[in-house]
Amino acid sequence: MIKKAIIPAAGSGTRLGPFTDAIPKELLPVGDKAIIEHVVEAFELTEVDEIAIVVSPRKHGLSDYLGSGKKFGMHFSYVVQDERLGLANAVLAGEHVINNHQFAVALGDNFFRSQDFLRDLIAFHEEEDADATIGVAKVEDVTRHGIIKAEGNAVVDLIEKPKPEEAPSDLGAIGIYAFKPIIFDAIRETKPGYKGEFQLTDSMKILVEWGKKVVYKEIPGIHIDIGTVKDLVRANAYYLDNRGGEKR
Ligand code: UTP
Repeated sequence: MIKKAIIPAAGSGTRLGPFTDAIPKELLPVGDKAIIEHVVEAFELTEVDEIAIVVSPRKHGLSDYLGSGKKFGMHFSYVVQDERLGLANAVLAGEHVINNHQFAVALGDNFFRSQDFLRDLIAFHEEEDADATIGVAKVEDVTRHGIIKAEGNAVVDLIEKPKPEEAPSDLGAIGIYAFKPIIFDAIRETKPGYKGEFQLTDSMKILVEWGKKVVYKEIPGIHIDIGTVKDLVRANAYYLDNRGGEKR
């Protein structure tokens, strides 16, 4: 049973400047809650009770906002990623908290329509007894995502942000994953890739090369990877129209 998780939140959020000069992207509001609090709430519907939140050295705002985790019935540890070296590197920073257990990962800047997306992903991972389970959706722009090549529900190849003509499908990773701890070994073997960063996509490709069981789960409904002001406005419009989310 998955009881631990990592939320990477150490990015620089340059596309949301100048707000992110002062406020971590993950603390910008969607309705009456910070983006990352929506992610934490999705974990509340799972068995996860300990989360490593990966922050950059200048992001103490996240611990000011989220606190110890007590108000969510969980325990949070704040782990510092010294340099923005990519998602694989951010996940590796949380290894000591995970301590050889299975775990889930959810990016701190993603917004989902359903609240069950993490519960469903984790249940699928456990049923499949997979080494890695990747949450995917049909994406409009393959150049913004890690794209998978699938056979049945097995992932047989992955490419980070391919050119449209090189994309093996339109199924893109949407920032939620479940792993056995062997992913940390794969991350240690990962070489810098796209933009010179350690890409989690490349680490999962190593698992495939090792013959490990990597599967995917399609997540239905709206998903917004909040990178720009337009994304933030879209997430807010959706949330306020559909779920209320305004303090009265
Ligand atoms: P993004 O790709 O959106 O990058 O990261 P970013 O740095 O936040 O934003 P831009 O590109 O500068 O505008 C996706 C998620 O992964 C985390 C980010 O905090 C964000 O939640 N991340 C990314 C890390 O924690 N560490 C990294 O090295 C990279």
